[in-house]
Amino acid sequence: MGATQNALAVLKSGPPSAKLLAAKHLAKDWENSREIGIAIDAMPDNPERPDKPPLVPPGNVKRRRLGTAAGRGALLHAVAHIEFNAIDLAADMIARFGHNPDIPDNDRDRFIGEWISVCHDEARHFELLQTRLAEFDMSYGDLPAHNGLWEAALKTKSNFAARLAIAPMVLEARGLDVTPGMIEKLTRVGDTDSVNILKIIYNEEIGHVAIGARWFQKLAQIRGHDPESWFHALVSDYFAGRLKPPFNVQARTLAGLKEGFYMPLS
Ligand SMILES: [Fe+2]
Ligand SMILES: [Fe+2]
Repeated sequence: MGATQNALAVLKSGPPSAKLLAAKHLAKDWENSREIGIAIDAMPDNPERPDKPPLVPPGNVKRRRLGTAAGRGALLHAVAHIEFNAIDLAADMIARFGHNPDIPDNDRDRFIGEWISVCHDEARHFELLQTRLAEFDMSYGDLPAHNGLWEAALKTKSNFAARLAIAPMVLEARGLDVTPGMIEKLTRVGDTDSVNILKIIYNEEIGHVAIGARWFQKLAQIRGHDPESWFHALVSDYFAGRLKPPFNVQARTLAGLKEGFYMPLS
């Protein structure tokens, strides 16, 4: 099978162990065959999820105090939930948009290969957190979570440019803004093991935002749009609310996301 079908298999796997296995298979199969796979015409709106965690409205997810192990466990659980969603978001990019006609044919493998590497990173991030959660006697699913990430991405299911604008360049970029604060708080309470995991994630997420920003800019060039004003238009059409400062300008710049993209939207 090719990458698009393997990516669909990731989306159709519910339990964490099955989703991780499918993500690894996607990467391994690509390494061996470089086979893009067929266009998927019946994409599911929602990926399969495990029975737990229950998905609740964002306001019902409790805020965490990091002075206690329970608070740190809750923070790690929330990040694990983001990474679990991120596995699906990368798989969805491949299965839903891998055959998008706006991707030049001679660039299609690069598109697929880059999002497979993202999917594989997200699976690894999730696994690192799962291992760390176990050290808190917790596992993914123990606490309620919200479905905001997936819902925000789902709005762009029929618009490739909007998906690139929203998933990597708004949602993942937001991770770059908030992760240093988490690292600082966890450092203050001496939780070095969790800090080390968040540092790995943070550094790799810069790469994910960079991949999204690069494809978005390429698409803008192909379509003859000014990248920044096109981004502004797509975000206002497809994303509810404004972008929240403060922004991590340094990390965003490293990812190739110039201030002109996001500053006017805050
Ligand atoms: Fe991640
Ligand atoms: Fe990511």
